[in-house]
Amino acid sequence: MTTVASVTQPTVLIIDDEAGPRDALKVILRPFFTIRSAENAKSALDVLNNEPIDLITLDQRLPDRHGLDLLTDIKHNHPDVEVVIVTGYGSLKSAMEGIRQGAAGYLLKPFNVTELITLTQQTMDKKRRLDFLRRNLRSSPELWGIGEESIRAWDGIKSEYLTLYQPAGPNTVFQEEEMSLVPLLSDILEATDRHLLNHSSRVSFYATLMAARLNLTLNEQKFLAMGAFLHDIGKTSLSAYRFSVDQILPSGEPIVCKEHCERGARLATTLGLPKEVHDIIAYHHERWDGYGYPYGLSGTDIPILARIVGIAQAFDHLTADAPGRTCLSAEAAIQRISLSSGSHFDPQLLDTFLEVAKQSTVSLPTMAASPAA
Ligand SMILES: [Fe+2]
Repeated sequence: MTTVASVTQPTVLIIDDEAGPRDALKVILRPFFTIRSAENAKSALDVLNNEPIDLITLDQRLPDRHGLDLLTDIKHNHPDVEVVIVTGYGSLKSAMEGIRQGAAGYLLKPFNVTELITLTQQTMDKKRRLDFLRRNLRSSPELWGIGEESIRAWDGIKSEYLTLYQPAGPNTVFQEEEMSLVPLLSDILEATDRHLLNHSSRVSFYATLMAARLNLTLNEQKFLAMGAFLHDIGKTSLSAYRFSVDQILPSGEPIVCKEHCERGARLATTLGLPKEVHDIIAYHHERWDGYGYPYGLSGTDIPILARIVGIAQAFDHLTADAPGRTCLSAEAAIQRISLSSGSHFDPQLLDTFLEVAKQSTVSLPTMAASPAA
């Protein structure tokens, strides 16, 4: 297993065409970072293509390109580089759009020094965790195996990760052991692709909206929320996975590597997650008519929580607004999904979902597009 890299001073690239804010950022960040700077998008890309950069502060208004446009390019070609947007009050809306496109945060001009230092430090702390996980996910095939070797590999990851992860407060105690794994698993989703993390969060939200209508027990609701969040965790085993190139069937079902269900379910077993969570991961691509995968189960042989997540993830794949994808409105997605009642989806559960979705159409398109909290 690759261990935590020794701590060296990270490098920040300050992109701003105005000398004043650029110099202020240099002075404030110099004690913590090696500094590089660029006055326009073209020279910023030259720096990025020629030297390792950890963090970028990006002014939204550049002489040769809009900052958001440059952000899309950076996140596409250098997905591991973190970006903080620097913006004025008048451009707050587009800063929020930047967060949706993968920026780690935004700073309002004139910036408060404490906020600037706190945000850049928190972003770097997260980047160290994500980089550590990326190195291990890419270089440790044993993580996706079975038995002792895989358990040992995950024990190693868990203990190294704990040296990098500071919970919200010094007294943070997770009452249930499986919940203590959520920060690690959430970071694994984000290390793979931030859009996969956003998808997972939304699917968990949609699934729990349905739970309230189905008289599930509190335990079932808890396992549903967790299993929905982790339903695609097996995709983190796929090298170079990108949410934006997951191909989508007309029903909303992605057709990326079918092994992700079994790999994810094996991971749930290795980590000792509850059986209900395991089953959601294993069976969320089974179909009501028996033509799904990986086992070809049909009808009520498919666990109910997996059937719920199957609907929620299909809806999100149709409505998710990620770079390079065409998304449907909530109304169009509802119509599309209705066509698969009784074939892909349990008709009764689908009716419940459509009812919930129709009652929430005012907020659904926003929810569909919003980033993970
Ligand atoms: Fe999936």
